[in-house]
Amino acid sequence: MTGYACVVTAAGRGERLGAEMPKALVPIGGRAMLIHAVSLMRARPRISGIVVAAPVGETENVRALFADFADVTVVTGGESRTDSVRAAVAVVPDDVAGILVHDAARPFVPAHVVDTVIDAIEDGADGAVPGIPVIDTIKEVGPDDVIVATPRRASLRAVQTPQGFRADVLRAALALPDADATDDAQLVERVGGKVRVVPGHPDAFKVTTPDDVARAEALLTERIAHAD
Ligand code: C5P
Repeated sequence: MTGYACVVTAAGRGERLGAEMPKALVPIGGRAMLIHAVSLMRARPRISGIVVAAPVGETENVRALFADFADVTVVTGGESRTDSVRAAVAVVPDDVAGILVHDAARPFVPAHVVDTVIDAIEDGADGAVPGIPVIDTIKEVGPDDVIVATPRRASLRAVQTPQGFRADVLRAALALPDADATDDAQLVERVGGKVRVVPGHPDAFKVTTPDDVARAEALLTERIAHAD
């Protein structure tokens, strides 16, 4: 088996952003966040195809955005993020070695982070996720907001995407009867997969609030300036 497929999840409503359109279609520098994310993944040599999970009701519009790209397939996403991943993975060719899952809401993940995730899988990991140390002390609270645990900060990582997995391992994780999670590694952990954390990067931040859109615009301007 050869090559990697990349699933780009773009079906979220993005309620915290408060835009009039689904978050993935919000423009950064005049182009939808989703287009930035897909372009970055298409440029990685080991990624042979992309599957986008589009927001419900936007599938045809999103197909039109990628009409010129034979290596981009668009499916309709689902109610939860995991449903969207499952819908996209269902059309990934059987013969890929690995599958990366990437949030459209992280349009500017550095290329070397993507490459490091793939390197870890090539090196034998079942999966690899980019992560950065956490700055704040994190508390686990009960339903009454009373603290029940304080994990040791040095052992915590805030994880980003793309999260990459051996294709067979991710497919097995998504087949779990009650599979639903805020990230894919969590499901792979549940089927016993060994998932490694590799160095992430602040530029892989997730666009969530209006301030994040401004930060993404600034980052794009800076990248364009440095590309000259
Ligand atoms: O909501 P959140 O920002 O955590 O979503 C992370 C990513 O998952 C986004 O790129 C979003 O479009 C995607 N998503 C999805 N399908 C859903 C919910 C979220 O593809 N039902």
